[in-house]
Amino acid sequence: MNDNKQGAAGSDTPNQTLTTRQGHPVTDNQNIRTVGNRGPSTLENYHFIEKITHFDRERIPERVVHARGAGAHGIFEAYGKVGDEPVAPYTRAKLFQEAGKQTPVFVRFSTVIHGAHSPETLRDPRGFAVKFYTEDGNWDLVGNNLKIFFIRDPLKFPDMVHAFKPDPLTNVQDMERFFDFVSLSPEATHMVTFLLSPWGIPANYRQMQGSGVNTYKWVNQNGEAVLVKYHWEPLKQGIKNLLQSEANEVQALNFNHATLDLYQAIEAGDYPEWELRVQLMTDGEHPELDFDPLDPTKLWPPEQFPFLPVGKMTLNRNPEDYFTEVEQASFGTGVLVDGLDFSDDKLLQGRTFSYSDTQRHRVGTNYLQLPINAPKTHVATNQSGGQMQFSPDRAEGQNPHVNYEPSSMGGLQEAVKQGSDHEPHYDAKLTRQKLDRANDFKQAGDTFRAFDSTEQDELIGNLVGALSGCKNDIRERMISYFTQADADYGRRVSEGLLHADQSRTLSGQSNPGLAVDKAKQLGHESD
Ligand code: HEM
Repeated sequence: MNDNKQGAAGSDTPNQTLTTRQGHPVTDNQNIRTVGNRGPSTLENYHFIEKITHFDRERIPERVVHARGAGAHGIFEAYGKVGDEPVAPYTRAKLFQEAGKQTPVFVRFSTVIHGAHSPETLRDPRGFAVKFYTEDGNWDLVGNNLKIFFIRDPLKFPDMVHAFKPDPLTNVQDMERFFDFVSLSPEATHMVTFLLSPWGIPANYRQMQGSGVNTYKWVNQNGEAVLVKYHWEPLKQGIKNLLQSEANEVQALNFNHATLDLYQAIEAGDYPEWELRVQLMTDGEHPELDFDPLDPTKLWPPEQFPFLPVGKMTLNRNPEDYFTEVEQASFGTGVLVDGLDFSDDKLLQGRTFSYSDTQRHRVGTNYLQLPINAPKTHVATNQSGGQMQFSPDRAEGQNPHVNYEPSSMGGLQEAVKQGSDHEPHYDAKLTRQKLDRANDFKQAGDTFRAFDSTEQDELIGNLVGALSGCKNDIRERMISYFTQADADYGRRVSEGLLHADQSRTLSGQSNPGLAVDKAKQLGHESD
């Protein structure tokens, strides 16, 4: 034991003894080995080198979006019905079939744009990602709190994220860049209407809805499919959003409030609950609708496509270690089980490539072997090697010489099919075209009119504040979109901006905001 250690006796309880990762007991964790007590130090300090080099590598790349998050474990319990009807005619997915059937889940909530320790009060969609550890392997439902999205084509996603994230020069988020992109992407009008309203700042993670946003398919035993959208509705805890002024007050005192709220509620036994509800539509183009069912910028009107409950989720256990479980958790839209399928929603298909691609980079080749990501069921593959392989994915009794298929020497065998395949037929030109029924503004107008007066006032105030810092052509495009959504909506934003400009002129403030100052510095005055 070392002499300099204050007040602590060495541990003689073996399971509390500090060791290196090689299992060597550490008898001095205070002093590196030096020539005399004034140094120099020596290079063979194995314990020090193991400790410091591990520390140097403690961080993995943060998620390129949704970097700030909090997670919890829980249970999903099926109702055994979809609404009042049996489930089996719609999907053969086992987790939904029997009333009371329980499936363990892990959920990660998140904000989207800023980094891993950014304030949780920011105006941003919130991520709502659920991993179901089913008997048929994992199902990930990677959703947001809002039911729609900014764009419908995945080719636009990297540009959208660049415009929303901090400016590459100043490293500060700039609403002029945000609205520059949005004003040239009219399909974002509906999402912006939600985002700039109080729905853009949920009070915490417990009191918000969730939605899969994209259109998926359910497939029954005969291979017949219906289109499906998933939604999470908070139960006893209800829904709560913040006005901008309320968010400012929270943020002044606590920028981790949503993480703490979730953690403390679960520690106190006040377990949050959500009901999973689905909207179903027959598979097809539905020319009678004024939108395409595969367009993620659209809501499916609930009068025509009611929300049908299928089960309930309860979060009842906090992670034991943030990094191991929450940071390394890897969700993806490609992770479906038998009875669930993709639709042709283009955004969904782009997402499905992106998630596992980024996770191989962010977490590593063998990210699916980590306990948080591994299914809690039989896993046996012929994949092997790669950084950090923990063990081969070998089945019990499998011939260890055979890591290929087909084989007559005791290797893995293909599984028996659980039902008929769903085999949609395609007959169309390979092309680059947007959907026919873009209809970018109608639902934005419906949403504006559905808001109560506080929500409308807050939306207009937030838009005026954000657009004040934007050059005129951006403002004009946005006003034209809001006007096409609803004449009153456009008029109120336009009048608000006029009023804001007049007040600034009266108070002698010529530059509306950072964006204009920046344009001047860079030598291209905004008009
Ligand atoms: C995270 C891509 C659209 C919800 C991510 C990540 C990527 C990504 C690369 C980081 C994943 C990781 O590091 O583990 C995309 C692309 C999209 C898209 C390419 C469109 C083309 C959406 C939409 C939603 C969504 C529409 C909501 C329905 C989420 C959530 C996370 C996430 C919740 C965080 C998951 C977690 O907690 O680990 N996305 N995304 N994304 N995305 Fe998307």
